[in-house]
Amino acid sequence: MGWLGLEGSRALVLGAGGLGAACAGGLAEAGARVAVADVDGARLEALKGDPGLAEADVRLLVADLTRPQACEDTVAGAVDELGGLDVLVHAVGMNDRRPVVDTPDELWERILTLNLSSAFWTGRAAGRRMRAAGRGRMVFFSSVSSLLAHRHHGPYAASKGGLDQLVKVMAREWAADGVNVNAVAPGYTETELTREYLARPGMREEMTGLVPAGRLGLPDDVVGAVLFLASRRAAYVTGQILYVDGGRTLV
Ligand SMILES: NC(=O)c1ccc[n+]([C@@H]2O[C@H](COP(=O)([O-])OP(=O)(O)OC[C@H]3O[C@@H](n4cnc5c(N)ncnc54)[C@H](O)[C@@H]3O)[C@@H](O)[C@H]2O)c1
Repeated sequence: MGWLGLEGSRALVLGAGGLGAACAGGLAEAGARVAVADVDGARLEALKGDPGLAEADVRLLVADLTRPQACEDTVAGAVDELGGLDVLVHAVGMNDRRPVVDTPDELWERILTLNLSSAFWTGRAAGRRMRAAGRGRMVFFSSVSSLLAHRHHGPYAASKGGLDQLVKVMAREWAADGVNVNAVAPGYTETELTREYLARPGMREEMTGLVPAGRLGLPDDVVGAVLFLASRRAAYVTGQILYVDGGRTLV
């Protein structure tokens, strides 16, 4: 058994994007059995070509996690596929940067539903099962935007601030059942979520200049934190928001 003790763990990763794929690969490398869910079937299929996952028998679940029933069904489907559920990683999310006064209701609803409501629906579904089993680990993706007041991030920042509180309440409610709930909060990381924004003139330099480490994050940067929180080594860590941001929130 390795130091993390993740061998044979049954893990569901929600999101096959930059960070979800990196976490799925890390979990598989640590010996976990992995299912990944995403609304985008092509992104899921692309995981089969991922060097970290090519050897793993990763189960792919297509699901639109903006619907409560789909969230329930996805957790139930993963439990069926894997024979139980020890780890849930929630790594779906979207952003759309514009001033609050220019943000239509539809966009507010869409971002809050995907970033926050899907965390509630999937966390609740997984929590019921993990409590009954007497153990479990959940890791949600928050953001430095949950703490810092970034301009043009109204719905996104609100969703991540709400997520932090949801994580803490679930952690408190389930601590005595062996179910630990934490979040990682990355700074700007190179994925599809940030690609267009960072490509705007001067933006990459400006964002990099805000990071004491002197560089933007890469998907691999979050994997160690997620694996630790998903492991038996994090038995006494719950309700925490772990910033993985190269020091961005220090300044
Ligand atoms: N990349 C960053 O800089 C950064 C920073 C802080 C926090 N985060 C958070 O990390 C998480 C993952 O972000 P990422 O960078 O991997 O983004 P990404 O855009 O690469 O991936 C997001 C994934 O969510 C999926 N998705 C979108 N709508 C969905 C739906 N309705 N149902 C199911 N899946 C859906 C997309 O298909 C995509 O695969 C998000 O919660 C994001 O807010 C990212």
